Amino acid sequence: MTDQSSNQMWGGRFAAGPDAIMEAINASIGFDQRMAAQDIAGSRAHAAMLAATGVISDSDAEAIREGLLTVLSEIQSGEFQFSTALEDIHMNVEARLKEIIGEPAGRLHTGRSRNDQVATDFKLWVRDQLDAAESGLLALIRALLAQAEAGADWVMPGFTHLQTAQPVTWGHHMMAYVEMFGRDLSRVRDARTRMNESPLGAAALAGTSFPIDRHMTAEALGFDRPAANSLDAVSDRDFALEFLSTASICAMHLSRFAEELVIWSSAQFRFVSLSDRFSTGSSIMPQKKNPDAAELIRAKVGRIYGANTGLMMVMKGLPLTYSKDMQEDKEQVFDAADNWMLALAAMEGMVKDMTANRESLAAAAGSGFSTATDLADWLVRVLGLPFRDAHHVTGSLVAMAESKGCDLPDLTLDDMQSVHADITQDVYSVLGVQNSVNSRQSYGGTAPDQVRIQIERWKANL
Ligand code: ARG
Repeated sequence: MTDQSSNQMWGGRFAAGPDAIMEAINASIGFDQRMAAQDIAGSRAHAAMLAATGVISDSDAEAIREGLLTVLSEIQSGEFQFSTALEDIHMNVEARLKEIIGEPAGRLHTGRSRNDQVATDFKLWVRDQLDAAESGLLALIRALLAQAEAGADWVMPGFTHLQTAQPVTWGHHMMAYVEMFGRDLSRVRDARTRMNESPLGAAALAGTSFPIDRHMTAEALGFDRPAANSLDAVSDRDFALEFLSTASICAMHLSRFAEELVIWSSAQFRFVSLSDRFSTGSSIMPQKKNPDAAELIRAKVGRIYGANTGLMMVMKGLPLTYSKDMQEDKEQVFDAADNWMLALAAMEGMVKDMTANRESLAAAAGSGFSTATDLADWLVRVLGLPFRDAHHVTGSLVAMAESKGCDLPDLTLDDMQSVHADITQDVYSVLGVQNSVNSRQSYGGTAPDQVRIQIERWKANL
């Protein structure tokens, strides 16, 4: 029945084997062997269900179960011989199963196709990665909370346009990233919930005439339910796209933080020292300590966006249901997942180890006329000026300080009164940076009390 010169899985219809180039373009085993554990889990669930529904005998199911465990251990120990001629992980596993247990192996593929098989395996793989991303994000959030707690009231400049804007607290800045990574965490959880429907049993595309129990296999594999439309089940790669888009947004957040760490660790800023464990030196310049991990995290976003865009392009315009184009879904997802997890772990390590330079932060917080808004607010609150007029008066005072080469608190009361006669000594009480941050008590503001409220809220949530 099987012509050995053609394919042992479908050789019946073929007189000749494939050209070497055909084999090279067709095979996915070079990369989809990463789904071996998921493939075997899916096959075990399927075999157990086929026995429970009476489609195959209990003794065949038992032989299949035992055989699959042997195959799994061969793969895990590295002794398994993967074959390109067998195209992909599904056929490699099944062919080896046949070698080990003989005839019952041929019954495993009853009521199933590689189309629902690959969708199931890949979903299980992506689901594992979402779980890994959840752990990575939680660890990073915890590291940021520890930094925020330590420096809840340390002052630093807040920036817009990378120009000094208003003083903020170190804790507040760290908590901004907690909010971002917190949203990433919720996207990861949402994606996991949405994807958790089992394609297994959709068979090639139309379902099967065998009395299979898709609820049973769904449950065995930890899915919430079987996917409700067999055509959709084998066509759908939304779950991989949602994984990549979630990874892309998170990588974007990571890259923004990485960029800040690169700037902050420079000799011109000195806001943070990165640990030796997460820095590199230069082979020629002995003084250098380079933030390579941050730079690489900043760069990872490129390949992760690339994977997202790449898979979008593969999927767009494909007619239902399965097309071989869809085999191109895996490598990009594997690469994006590896690099996302690595970036999360590296960022967590850097955040845990880094030391904020409290003095440099404070010195920078007071420079650049950072309390100009506090001065304008004082003119509104105490002198009753309309804000637009207060803005103008403050602008003149900033220009005066700039021409004198001093900061706002260094202007004399005479200087102040030369611009607006009603200004009193009391104005100096709002020109200090600590006072400035303490005063920003609005919900979500930078006042240390407010920052601590948010830290406590997050700690309770986690
Ligand atoms: N290696 C294939 C993939 O990754 C498995 C599914 C093949 N199905 C088929 N009908 N040729 O998509």
